[in-house]
Amino acid sequence: MIPYIITAVLAYLCGSIPFGLLLTRAAGLGDIRSIGSGNIGATNVLRTGNRPIAAATLLLDAAKGAVPVLVARYFLGEDAANLAAVAAFLGHVFPVWLNFNGGKGVATFIGVLLALSWPVGLIFCAVWLVIAFAQRYSSLAAITAASTSPIFAYVVTGSLRLVLVTVLITAVLLYRHATNISRLIRGTEPKIGSEKKAS
Ligand code: G3P
Repeated sequence: MIPYIITAVLAYLCGSIPFGLLLTRAAGLGDIRSIGSGNIGATNVLRTGNRPIAAATLLLDAAKGAVPVLVARYFLGEDAANLAAVAAFLGHVFPVWLNFNGGKGVATFIGVLLALSWPVGLIFCAVWLVIAFAQRYSSLAAITAASTSPIFAYVVTGSLRLVLVTVLITAVLLYRHATNISRLIRGTEPKIGSEKKAS
């Protein structure tokens, strides 16, 4: 039991590193929380106009999801890997360092999925890209990719535990996209490459 508790705590702490905030500050771009949507994720970092920092945010936010899963699997096996996946994701969304108000979890979900089952992770990325190119909404791409991930998890792996992990993470991801969903319904969600938005 104790190794699993340690796994969850370490994975949570790893996931809670706010790379978007740290990188934008280090690059002299100001506080990302007062720019665009105020989110600390790569989509909002891209609104600063700095593509390398946005790409680094995407990669590091994905890596902080993947690394705890791989380490937990190496030392303790698949159940610990699943636990680390959820804990790292929750760390990104509810980081202790930012009063539990973090990002929306898309890049960290991708990292987690690639580590748990790389084919399912690649399908997530493919769905995201198709919707993003077709509709130009980052949030809609994320919502669609996340919502279909339990289906692909089941079809590809047949693992009900992976399905449960994707359902749990998707539920939190949708909750964190509530304002995006309401803007999408109202038709006020900014498209990729458009101007900054107010909230
Ligand atoms: O990756 C987060 C994305 O789905 C939405 O981000 O900044 O447009 O609210 P944002």
